[in-house]
Amino acid sequence: MSSGGVAELFICEADAVPESGRGVRFAVTAFGEAATGFVVRHHGKVYGYLNRCAHVPIELDWAEGEFFESSKTYLMCSTHGAIYLPENGQCAGGPCKGGRLRPIALREENDKIYWQPDDFVRAPQIPIKPHHDEL
Ligand code: FES
Repeated sequence: MSSGGVAELFICEADAVPESGRGVRFAVTAFGEAATGFVVRHHGKVYGYLNRCAHVPIELDWAEGEFFESSKTYLMCSTHGAIYLPENGQCAGGPCKGGRLRPIALREENDKIYWQPDDFVRAPQIPIKPHHDEL
């Protein structure tokens, strides 16, 4: 049990995230706004980041889930080509110089992947439906 932290949230089955292949996006609330996170697998391990370029705050994937560039070595922002190291999110070239992706803590267990909300990247807002049927 975690010590008073927010409960982790299920993202997907482990086999939905193939080695250096398509990533899986998941909804988050980042710094108070609706956003997405993503998970990719690199050398067998899963890594999670906020889906936001360090250069200009827009999503990285030009086609949904496509985060790796063609050599499968780096994660790449499709807009102006910033590249990031999958294992730590550090910028490795391009206009993100000196920046890094915002990591999101993940846990892979029993063939399932979960993420851990923190103070700035929180669970997605759930729209509250009015209770029309209340008497
Ligand atoms: S917005 Fe991502 S490289 Fe510029």
